[in-house]
Amino acid sequence: MNKVIAIANQKGGVAKTTTAINLSASLARLGRSVLLIDMDPQGNAARGFGIDIALLKNTIHQVLVGDININRALHKTMINNLEIIPANLKLSSIDVEIVGKEINPFFMLKNALTNLKKDYDYIIIDCPPSLGLLNLNALVAADRVIIPVQCEYFAMEAVAAILGSISNVQRDYNNNLEIGGFLLTMYDAKTRLSEEVANEIRSVFKEKTFFTVIPRNVSIPESSARGMPTILYRPTSAGALAYTNLAREVIDNEER
Ligand SMILES: Nc1ncnc2c1ncn2[C@@H]1O[C@H](COP(=O)(O)OP(=O)(O)OP(=O)(O)O)[C@@H](O)[C@H]1O
Ligand SMILES: [Mg+2]
Repeated sequence: MNKVIAIANQKGGVAKTTTAINLSASLARLGRSVLLIDMDPQGNAARGFGIDIALLKNTIHQVLVGDININRALHKTMINNLEIIPANLKLSSIDVEIVGKEINPFFMLKNALTNLKKDYDYIIIDCPPSLGLLNLNALVAADRVIIPVQCEYFAMEAVAAILGSISNVQRDYNNNLEIGGFLLTMYDAKTRLSEEVANEIRSVFKEKTFFTVIPRNVSIPESSARGMPTILYRPTSAGALAYTNLAREVIDNEER
């Protein structure tokens, strides 16, 4: 099936990586085969699975510049049917590296995916906090984009920017791209602000907002520090349960 879902928002620290890790892990736990691709030079998606990324020679960078075949960049995780293609800091200079090469800069990821030997139910892409080349590659390759929205000040401004980028990609490169949903993250029931942001997003984007809301939950940063998805580290925590619910919602939307 290879349903490709990008997790994107150019605003930093809104829980893109946390969502990419825990959605991938939850989908795999619900029996789906999943490939997680890290498109962020920070490399946090692979770190979240305890992978030491610093000196890796088979990362998404080597795949995108054409040095290795994508099938050689697949890494196992502690979850059976979940594989990952890691990123590291090398990825940050890819825009200058490809100058003068015969590479279509916006289609690097899309073209690489066509060489995958295995068929996955879901390919999840963790995007960097920018609207640059790497983010563009993810949107060009994706069928859906999930937009995490942190329940904080300026959430709406950030959403406007990513929506602009999505419509440009839809118009020029990928008319298959659809918004998979807005995901409210780091929701704190004790604060008025969280509720206000949540209400605003729901009133503007209506049924495009996921029913599932991700609460602020200490198990989430703790599990990252341990190099494990929250759904493995603290399976009964509020954060883990919310991400399992999100995975069920994604499955309902995609497999109807
Ligand atoms: N629901 C949550 N409760 C508490 N902390 C959270 C929650 N979700 C994410 N965090 C923490 O917030 C920080 C930012 O999360 P994350 O790295 O997932 O964001 P990001 O959007 O990927 O950031 P970047 O833009 O830098 O890639 C991390 O320290 C993470 O552990
Ligand atoms: Mg991130």
